[in-house]
Amino acid sequence: MSRILLEWYDRNARVMPWRVSPVDRADGIKPDPYRIWMSEVMLQQTTVAAVRDYFRRFIDHWPTVTDLANAQDADVMAEWAGLGYYARARNLLKCARHVVEHHGGVFPNTHDALLTLPGVGPYTAAAISSIAFDLPETVVDGNVERVISRLCDIHTPLPTSKPELTALAKSLTPTERAGDYAQAIMDLGATICTPKSPACGICPWREPCLGRARGTAADLPKKIAKKPKPTRVGIVYIARREDGAWLMETRPDKGLLGGMLAFPTTEWGETTDDHPPASAEWTELESEALHTFTHFHLRLRIQTAWIDSTPTRGDFLSASDFSPTALPTVFRKAFDLAHETMRHN
Ligand code: ADE
Repeated sequence: MSRILLEWYDRNARVMPWRVSPVDRADGIKPDPYRIWMSEVMLQQTTVAAVRDYFRRFIDHWPTVTDLANAQDADVMAEWAGLGYYARARNLLKCARHVVEHHGGVFPNTHDALLTLPGVGPYTAAAISSIAFDLPETVVDGNVERVISRLCDIHTPLPTSKPELTALAKSLTPTERAGDYAQAIMDLGATICTPKSPACGICPWREPCLGRARGTAADLPKKIAKKPKPTRVGIVYIARREDGAWLMETRPDKGLLGGMLAFPTTEWGETTDDHPPASAEWTELESEALHTFTHFHLRLRIQTAWIDSTPTRGDFLSASDFSPTALPTVFRKAFDLAHETMRHN
């Protein structure tokens, strides 16, 4: 079974900036655990297409784990802006500093030691163990769950079926070329065994696949229906001073968008009260910024003002130090809607 998939991977491995191709791997070239770790943290909840450029920029800025450990928090958060799930970026820094302080700047090379690193859970530990160190650990992400549930025609819905799918995935993991195998099964899920209309005709596992034989593949995996997301509302205040400086704040480390550069906002809830950060003549835009987070939809009303009084919150960031690319997406949306009306001469 695994041999067929590895032969497919030898011919079809996707090219990724952190990946060592199967040919190079066979020549003894080893992946850099730092790059594998960073790519896997970025890939949690995020597609390869979205991660590519972020990964390249991070490696350009911080080529080693020691470079990253020495970075300023704000610089790392600014580079992460737009990727989402910002706790990952805070953990990235925490983990880099932990590896430097406790492991001399060298990633530990066992599954159990990897599990002790900040932000490294069972999935990431298995991914680094197998991909970077070729240990026979089993990765189980959404791709793998889909492939295995189809291959074995499992109808129990997720997440109930997770332990069963994990056990099946383990039983298929080879002891040799475990890293290539882990990447192969994820590539298969991403390119052939896709959520909708899987390309069973060209799948290397079409012969053994029970879901294909029984015609159930496209309907698997079953999932327990998720609760619908509530909608929250809030107001964001986008203000400039006469010299062009923007009124900004860094959000508290704990909580949503923690550690990120932001415009002052009200709390987000079922309703919202006006709490401007300075007294000024605030103008509300007709458009709202709409954004969906993991657990809720947000409708963010946008108010703008030029202010000459002292604000009660936030700090002024000079126009030359302000870069909208450092904003998380919801604030970037608000900024894009507002900035036309806030030009500075
Ligand atoms: N998704 C997450 N990690 C991956 C990897 N290493 N290869 C392919 N897809 C992935």
